[in-house]
Amino acid sequence: MDSLEQTIADAQARLEAAVADRTAAMHAPVVGTPDGEMRIMVLRAVGPALSALRFHTDARSPKVMTVATHGRASVLAYDPVARVQLRLSGPARIEQAGPTADAAWDKAAAFSRRCYLAEAGPGAPLDAPGSALPADLLARRPTLAETEAGRAAFAVLLVEPETLDWLRLDAHGGVRARFVRGPQGWEGGWTAP
Ligand SMILES: Cc1cc2nc3c(=O)[nH]c(=O)nc-3n(C[C@H](O)[C@H](O)[C@H](O)COP(=O)(O)O)c2cc1C
Repeated sequence: MDSLEQTIADAQARLEAAVADRTAAMHAPVVGTPDGEMRIMVLRAVGPALSALRFHTDARSPKVMTVATHGRASVLAYDPVARVQLRLSGPARIEQAGPTADAAWDKAAAFSRRCYLAEAGPGAPLDAPGSALPADLLARRPTLAETEAGRAAFAVLLVEPETLDWLRLDAHGGVRARFVRGPQGWEGGWTAP
């Protein structure tokens, strides 16, 4: 990296590529919440200048209450080939209704929507190993009309990063930069890796 601007642009480009390509290393980052829990989530959208990261989730999952309570989240993504790690954190919120959630639901394919038809939310106890999907949906793709029942369980998680830590390790000791979002946009500097 030659400049701090280039470093921010690199983070943006990596995350945008990860949204578009399900085989990209950063497609499914780790999302952390202030209760100390972490989980893998698929990155669905990145706003301009890293203004927001969008994820989809089941409104019944425990992280939804945690985000509602604490209002913050962190995101950790790593590309093992490029050896680049991105750490972002900032205010976070859950939206179950409204234009963002509606648009995300409208764009979701029937197969992606299927998980929201589960009869019990993530983390609910089950009598046997397996999914909580209705038995007749286990082996088939639901019709789009059938998936509408899942809308009530669908929510988006929006993280608005206000810190970014960019790190690449290499044989020369690596490069690292840390940024904070200020009124004028991202401001940062180089740091020791
Ligand atoms: C590859 C992979 C992708 C996942 N994608 C999502 C996702 O996009 N949204 C989500 O809520 N959970 C996703 N999960 C499941 C979460 O990691 C987690 O188990 C679940 O959301 C419950 O989290 P919670 O108990 O912290 O609420 C994914 C898990 C894996 C392994």
